[in-house]
Amino acid sequence: MKYKYLYIIVFVLVTLTIGCGSESKEAGVPENPTFGEHVAPILAKNCLPCHRENGAAPFSLERFDAVKKRAKTIAKVTLNRIMPPWPADPNYTHFVGEKVLTEQEISTIQRWVEQGAVEGNANYVYVAPQHFRSSIRKPDLVVPFDSVSLREGDVDRFFISKSQVQLNRKRYIAALELVPSSMGMIHHANGHLLLYPEGTKKKGARTTGKIETTRGVNTKSFEQLNLLLDDGSVPMRVHSAFNYLPGVEGIEYPPGIGGYEVTRDFAAVMNDVHYGPSDTNLTDKPVLNVFFTDVAPKRATGELMLGTNGVSKIVPPLVVPANKITKHSTRYTIDADISVLTINPHLHQLGKSFWAFAIKPNGDTIHLIRIPRWNFNWQYFYTFKTMVRIPAGSEIVAIAEFDNTRANPYNPNNPPKTVAERWEFGGASMRASDEMFQFILTYTAYQKGDESISLERKKSKP
Ligand code: HEC
Repeated sequence: MKYKYLYIIVFVLVTLTIGCGSESKEAGVPENPTFGEHVAPILAKNCLPCHRENGAAPFSLERFDAVKKRAKTIAKVTLNRIMPPWPADPNYTHFVGEKVLTEQEISTIQRWVEQGAVEGNANYVYVAPQHFRSSIRKPDLVVPFDSVSLREGDVDRFFISKSQVQLNRKRYIAALELVPSSMGMIHHANGHLLLYPEGTKKKGARTTGKIETTRGVNTKSFEQLNLLLDDGSVPMRVHSAFNYLPGVEGIEYPPGIGGYEVTRDFAAVMNDVHYGPSDTNLTDKPVLNVFFTDVAPKRATGELMLGTNGVSKIVPPLVVPANKITKHSTRYTIDADISVLTINPHLHQLGKSFWAFAIKPNGDTIHLIRIPRWNFNWQYFYTFKTMVRIPAGSEIVAIAEFDNTRANPYNPNNPPKTVAERWEFGGASMRASDEMFQFILTYTAYQKGDESISLERKKSKP
């Protein structure tokens, strides 16, 4: 008897919960949504960062008629969560700048399109959050690089490109952000800073320059680009000071974390900037946005790289036979407490899914990232909202799946053929047609209280 009542109560509770669930999905969705009142704010926040003049997307949505013209496609790509592109699963971990529409926002867009995409009262403000080519704020200095032109049919082309800078005094740099002018051309770029202490380099014009290469940077290329010190030695180098992958947005850490001190004379060098593939004739002229600070860097950041070219082996080795789906993992145990700031999962076109977490010595799991549907076009550097502490003795685990079947729309080979990690010139090949499996963590040594330090962007000053 007692149990019967219990069942009834449970039944009622379950029914109520389910009822609320479906109701809350529709709750807050306006009956007759208009662009000005309801849709513009959603698009301004989630679409205009890319769909604007000179943005990452191929067309602008900055005007109402441009949105109206594409209303049906917009309804489709938002419903399927193809746009805005955000491969990381928001039910697993959250990151700075996350672009994920709520169910309510999606329903609002659907209903608005169904009802004929009405503009409504035209008295509204609809602008991109920022108007300059930066996702941080207006840069203090914009350093130009030489332009690169691709011809139709170019596959992989590698360059070393430099730009020399002269300041009126030593400065601290808080953040660097590489911005291509033509989106989708750069496959990746890795940049260094070369420092020239007073009186060590007089010869040579302080300008830009580039050479095409297949072998990466060496002393000879430094000589060709006139980057050596006057006495012929190699200048001091800040490794991996800036990076670029499609979809990457710049990030500035809190004052004193990361950052560099630079000499009055310094050079920014893209050591292997990888362009292609391209199916049209295109020209790109990238710039490096520089953000200064008066706060000296107090806490250095480091990079821990698992997998290809990194500290840990891939098991089983990264060979993806034709017509097969394979699964690989890589694991590394850290010996000191670290605070993780940013993570970057990296696979090529055969990537299918990615998952990373850490197992603490006590057996607890720390969620890092889960990407259920890998998308080669969107390989963000994901910055946590607050620093994530991983204690000494924890094992960091990354697991990736690769799909070498015809069902994978990004498969570069039709019919599929065996693809693997390939080694050349003492490192792994970075060609888009070879595979890679990397998990890179940017971290700083743990200090008490790090868990509560926010990495969210400061409000941008227009
Ligand atoms: C991070 C940059 C970025 C954001 C944010 C973004 N887009 Fe896109 N969008 C792109 C790029 C790049 C393409 C073209 C390549 C592709 O389709 O992936 C694209 C393509 C599209 C297309 C064409 C798709 C097709 O199949 O023809 C539509 C429509 C679209 N976006 C709408 C939106 C809407 C609506 C939003 C916001 C809710 C949005 N996008 C947010 C970068 C972005």
